[in-house]
This record gives sequence, structure tokens and C-alpha cells, in this order.
Amino acid sequence: MVKICCLGAGYVGGPTMAVIALKCPSIEVVVVDISVSRISAWNSDQLPIYEPGLDDVVKQCRGRNLFFSTDIEKHVSEADIIFVSVNTPTKTRGLGAGKAADLTYWESAARMIANVAKSDKIVVEKSTVPVKTAEAIEKILTHNSKGINFQILSNPEFLAEGTAIQDLFKPDRVLIGGRETPEGRKAVQALKDVYANWVPEDRILTTNLWSAELSKLAANAFLAQRISSVNAISALCEATGANVSEVAYSVGKDTRIGPKFLNSSVGFGGSCFQKDILNLVYICECNGLPEVANYWKQVIKINDYQKSRFVNRVVSSMFNTVAGKKIAVLGFAFKKDTGDTRETPAIDVCKGLLGDKAKISIYDPQVTEDQIQRDLAMNKFDWDHPVHLQPMSPTAVKQVSVTWDAYEATKGAHGICILTEWDEFKSLDYKEIYESMQKPAFIFDGRNVVDPEKLREIGFIVYSIGKPLDPWLKDMPAVA
Ligand code: UDX
Ligand code: UDX
Ligand code: ADP
Repeated sequence: MVKICCLGAGYVGGPTMAVIALKCPSIEVVVVDISVSRISAWNSDQLPIYEPGLDDVVKQCRGRNLFFSTDIEKHVSEADIIFVSVNTPTKTRGLGAGKAADLTYWESAARMIANVAKSDKIVVEKSTVPVKTAEAIEKILTHNSKGINFQILSNPEFLAEGTAIQDLFKPDRVLIGGRETPEGRKAVQALKDVYANWVPEDRILTTNLWSAELSKLAANAFLAQRISSVNAISALCEATGANVSEVAYSVGKDTRIGPKFLNSSVGFGGSCFQKDILNLVYICECNGLPEVANYWKQVIKINDYQKSRFVNRVVSSMFNTVAGKKIAVLGFAFKKDTGDTRETPAIDVCKGLLGDKAKISIYDPQVTEDQIQRDLAMNKFDWDHPVHLQPMSPTAVKQVSVTWDAYEATKGAHGICILTEWDEFKSLDYKEIYESMQKPAFIFDGRNVVDPEKLREIGFIVYSIGKPLDPWLKDMPAVA
């Protein structure tokens, strides 16, 4: 029986291992983590992450061939294949601060594997890491190996949060990179055999190590670039009277371009896009390619521009000040169907509004009050753009309240900002909401979820990203 151990029970490790266990009943899968509370949550009825379909998969396999444990060393030493999906945040200090990946967790994981291994292991790089990390890890492993053979593979994860289970069930592709030696090829084949339990052969791609590592960064950079491209066009739409949805639809009909990932928004968020692009930028700089670095950096700059443009729109529409006004924020997660708030545009938008002394009342169906307060109190690393403001002062903290209901959040508000595209925001009773608000009542839709015409009929002044402007907004000062 093949034994798999996965280091890191997070958004990637948890769902990926659950699906492997489900699809491969003859493989024993143990997910380990240094966090005792995370592991207890995985062993409880209240899983630590919200992901549609995940509960069901875990229920089917947990205790059968899927286990969650904090006994890291035991399971690492027994495993044939070790997946590493520990966190790799952007470095906040030292060399490469603000851009390079922080590999502290990775390095300590590699040293631990080398220490406890008593038999040959395949070590699989699952978390996104800079190109050539595999080489560094290989060195740590082989220099501490006591004669054991380690094969390192890169098997980047392409699942998106909110659709992780579907993405894992039917991946567009599975990518496995390995050394081009007989041992390397054998290791690639062993991992291929695991996926072949449910993924058609022609979707399992094998490459060299560096191609696999770079493909992950490049894929995320391309996806983010599409969003920044359409968001850049959205600003021009507002200035000219074009409608970004019509433009994106027409552009996406070209089969060479395709329709996906062309939704204009208040900006992309999530744990991957910004981090991976910064990583790519850093690698380019280290390789003496400043032009290439600047090209990709621009994708992040437009994303920051989009967030500050949104805040400016809110403030300028409301008579150039939101001081003391209640603003309801609907949605805080970085996208729908997840409770994850990493790099969510809502953080920067809320900080911007608080900077202008607004009182904000936040509702998100999946994000806890604790998480929101932590996110807003955090001092974000300011790489070289101004949008990330200083941490909130104690008075600013009092300006934020979190509710468990959209109607409560919007009661008595001067304006509403929709920052996540949760389905339930489409079917709220906006008439009732309008009645309970201060007048004039504003809606700023950062996700194009509401129908601006219908809301205007109710009486709202509506701003939708990239859509022809409300006559009210046209008369307001120009937005920087
Ligand atoms: C282009 C648009 O495709 C067409 O829709 C528009 O109406 C006019 O402009 P065209 O310039 O004739 O058409 O050729 P196209 O096939 O788009 O190629 C343009 C250039 O890009 C060529 O030099 C081509 O060699 C290059 N190219 C294209 C690449 O370098 N790589 C590619 O993957 C595709
Ligand atoms: C992404 C990649 O899609 C996935 O392949 C990779 O493995 C991890 O990073 P994820 O961050 O979970 O996944 O979500 P994704 O669906 O890509 O959305 C990222 C952000 O872009 C979200 O904030 C989303 O709202 C935004 N987005 C997405 C848009 O603003 N417009 C779009 O058209 C699509
Ligand atoms: P991702 O979105 O990449 O899955 P997460 O932050 O959700 O990232 O998960 C990473 C997990 O890895 C965390 O739960 C963290 O506690 C765990 N972790 C970090 N270092 C180690 C380690 N050396 N061994 C085991 N788990 C680790």
C-alpha cells in the first residue's frame, strides 16, 4: 500500500489530499500540520475552511484512508510520497523584502524530512515557490541524507478557492516536473500513477522541474493580467460612456482570447496572484531582466489603482467626504464561496474609507468578525505603492462594526459598497434596504452584481464599475 503524507493542512493541502484519498481507496493519506487547532478542526464536524463539497468528501474518507494528525515525524518517516504544502508568504524583511517568497517554513520542513527519513522518499513541491526552489530543497535533503535517496518533484496546484473540489475532480491539467534521470523518471511515474486513478492520461503533463515551477507562476500572472487588462479598460469605459461588460463580451468572443477571467471588478485578491507576480518580478530582477520585471509589476499597479479609484469614487460622489457617515460593506472575502480574506480588495477599500473617517458596517456570510478585525488591524507590507495605509489607530477600530445580516449592515447607512460577488447580494430586497437608508442613498457595486437600472428606479444613486455613469456622478469632481 502506497502511503502519502502531506505537510500543511491548509487551503491547498486539505482539499487536495481529501480528493486523492477519495479517488484512491488503496492509498493511505495522512495530512499533518504544526497547528494543533487546525488538525482538531479537520477532525471535527466544523472543518477549518469553507469549500463547497469538501465536507462530503472528508466525511466519506476520514478514518478510512484519510487521517489528520500532528504526529508529523511518525507519518513523514512512514510515507513513500511526501507532499509539502506549507505556507510561502512574501518576505516582509531582509533581502528581497516585499517581493521574494519567504521559504522559512519550506526549509524547516525539508530539514525535518531529512532528519526523520529512514527510507527513500519522493518529496513533492505543492505550494507555489520561486523557480529553482526544488534545487535548494534537493541540496538540503541530499546534504543531510544519510545515504537515503530523495527525489524531488514539482506538482503545482491549480485549484481555485470556492471551486476546489470541482477543480480537483476534473482538472484542466495535472503538471508534474521532475529530474531527467532514471530515478527522476521513476518518481514522476509513481506520482502519475496516483493521479491516473481519476485523471485521463492526456491531462497529466510531465516536464522538467523548472518548467513546472515556472508554469505555475506564469499561469497566475497571465490570469491576473487579464483582470488588470479589463480593469484598465473599465476606467476608460467610465470616461467614455462605453460599457465594460459589453466590451469584455465582445473581446472574449474572439476564440483566440476566450471569455473567461474578463470580469471587471474592484480588483483581484487571494493568496496567489499578487504573491506569485511579486515573486516573478523578483526572479526577473535577480536574472538581470528589469524590463520584464516592470512589465509584470504593472499588473499589480493597475490592481492597486483600481482599488484606490473605487475609494475615490465613493468619497467624491458623497460630497467629497464620508467622515462620520455609515457605509455598509457587503462582502469581505476575496471572492464568493470562500471565507478566505487573504489579500482581499475589501481590506484596502475599508482602510481607504476609514482613512476618510467613515463608519463602516461589514457583512459577509462566511468571514468572522475576528478575522475582519485582524485583517484591518494588520500593518501590510508596503512594497512600492501607496495604497496600503498604516495600521488602524484604536479610534479607527471603533469605526468598524461587523454584522451577520445585510439588512442590519445597511440600516441607516448613507452608502453601500458591494465588494464580494456573493449570490445572495443579487436577491436582497433593495426596496426595503432603500427605505431604511439615509437619502440620497448610494450603491457602489465593485463586482457588477446588481442591475443599476432597477436600483435607479427604486431611487438609489448607483455606481457600477466600468458602466455608463449615473448623471449624479458625472457632475462630481473627476476621479484621480
Ligand atoms: C490582426 C488581428 O489578428 C486581426 O483580428 C485584426 O483585424 C488585424 O490585426 P494580423 O495583423 O493580420 O491580424 O495578424 P495576426 O495573426 O494577429 O498576427 C499579428 C502579428 O503577431 C504577426 O506578426 C504574428 O507573427 C504575431 N504573432 C501572432 C506572434 O508573434 N505570436 C502569436 O502567438 C500570434
Ligand atoms: C487562483 C488561480 O485561479 C488558481 O489556478 C491558482 O491555483 C491559485 O490562484 P484563487 O486565488 O483561488 O485561484 O481564485 P481566482 O478565481 O483565480 O480569483 C482570484 C481573484 O480574481 C478574486 O479576487 C476574483 O474575484 C478575481 N477575479 C477573477 C476578477 O476580479 N475577475 C475575474 O474575471 C476573475
Ligand atoms: P495554502 O493556501 O498554501 O494551503 P495555508 O496557510 O492555508 O496555505 O496552509 C499552510 C499550512 O502549513 C498551515 O496550516 C501551517 O500551519 C502549515 N505548516 C507550516 N509549516 C509547517 C511544517 N513545517 N510542518 C507542517 N505543517 C506546517
